[in-house]
Amino acid sequence: MSSVTLTAVVTGAGGTIGKCFALSLASMGYDLVIIDTHRGNLDALQTTLHREYPDTQVLALDVNITDPQEVMSAAQRVQARFQGIDLLVNNAGISPKLPTGKRIPFLNIEDDEWDLVMETNLKSVFLMCKYFFEGLKAKQGKIVNIASMMGATGSGVDTNKLFPYSVSAAHYSASKAGVINLTKSLAREFGALGMPVYAIAPGAVVGGMGKFDESFIQNLKEQIPSHQLGNPEEIVNALTFLLTSGMSLTGQTLHVNHGWFMGG
Ligand SMILES: NC(=O)c1ccc[n+]([C@@H]2O[C@H](COP(=O)([O-])OP(=O)(O)OC[C@H]3O[C@@H](n4cnc5c(N)ncnc54)[C@H](O)[C@@H]3O)[C@@H](O)[C@H]2O)c1
Repeated sequence: MSSVTLTAVVTGAGGTIGKCFALSLASMGYDLVIIDTHRGNLDALQTTLHREYPDTQVLALDVNITDPQEVMSAAQRVQARFQGIDLLVNNAGISPKLPTGKRIPFLNIEDDEWDLVMETNLKSVFLMCKYFFEGLKAKQGKIVNIASMMGATGSGVDTNKLFPYSVSAAHYSASKAGVINLTKSLAREFGALGMPVYAIAPGAVVGGMGKFDESFIQNLKEQIPSHQLGNPEEIVNALTFLLTSGMSLTGQTLHVNHGWFMGG
């Protein structure tokens, strides 16, 4: 009798939070498809996974998730290797900043950069859900989209007297608002199939795109009730909680931000 294997697809697995998702899912017994454009980080993660979880099957794919052809052929490769997908984590994203590391003011956002942010953060979620749908449907798979607190609040300005003291620009927050909204539409469309769709909206997380200078971090901490930034493990904890919630939380966005934003 063969045991049932679970398979998860994680985009942006070469990044700070994505790597944590991948390692945690491997520890839970999932086989993994790890996707990123950063080949070096992907290789390093694959090596770590083979060493720490030798029984885990790992397929590492250097795929630009903004490109429909690349996403489509990735879905075909995954379908050929695994018998369906139990979990898709749409985690890859970008948050362009000024060379100083600060937020780009709205009027300084280049037209091309607006498109790049929308394609990377929002269109990619559409493409991944569309082209991996058949594999997900085969196993009543779950979808978890990584949004951002900024998707609910909008981006801010560079003063800690106004909420939110911003870490990201207007194109980033608009794209993440789109992710939260798309999550709701998908939850309705896929609900009858028994496929839940959730979003997780982190606040400021240490590492990854959350690398800021010390004075910026001090100002951020003044705004946050716990006076702490989040860490990637807390985002993974939110994922593992959602995985136990069945259909009860489908369409919801789980905010993980140390009390920085408490709205819906
Ligand atoms: N770090 C934070 O403070 C924070 C806060 C809120 C939300 N988030 C969200 O969490 C997610 C992960 O963030 P992180 O901090 O780990 O960032 P990160 O920069 O460490 O990781 C993002 C990964 O996505 C990959 N990527 C970018 N464009 C891609 C593309 N076109 N195709 C494939 N891969 C691509 C990058 O190579 C990178 O490895 C993002 O969606 C981000 O918006 C992060």
